[in-house]
Amino acid sequence: MRAALTAVLVALAGSALAQGAPGADTATGQQVYEVRCSFCHGEGGVGGQGPALIGVIGRKAGSVPNFAYSPALKSSALTWTPANLDRFLTNPAELVPGTSMPMSVPDAKERADLMAYLASLH
Ligand code: HEC
Repeated sequence: MRAALTAVLVALAGSALAQGAPGADTATGQQVYEVRCSFCHGEGGVGGQGPALIGVIGRKAGSVPNFAYSPALKSSALTWTPANLDRFLTNPAELVPGTSMPMSVPDAKERADLMAYLASLH
């Protein structure tokens, strides 16, 4: 029941992001991604030193096969709902103490744009 509700909420939030949450801008999100994320997560989110981010919204944290996650993220039991992703990107080590993800995005608009871009990746 709870899982079903969560799935519905994730689907609703995901579609809102895909359509562009109010004020969120995919093109700006792509620019932020290219400057601050692609170095580790690859062009278009294909992965590299960081895990692939294609399809990350709605995905269980630490679940890309064969990626060497920190024990902290691997055992976090988080799902990357838009709300959790927003908290993680605000300050990764605060949500997941011990994570090896070093990049925080303090600006709320940049996070919203980034998430709109991540939601657009296939
Ligand atoms: C210096 C390299 C580096 C940069 C730059 C970086 N990341 Fe990461 N990221 C990582 C690593 C390494 C992990 C795995 C963390 C762990 O295992 O604790 C990670 C994990 C993540 C995760 C969790 C993915 C999953 O599969 O659970 C997300 C989401 C994420 N990063 C988003 C971003 C975004 C968005 C940016 C740009 C704002 C960014 N990262 C910038 C290295 C980086």
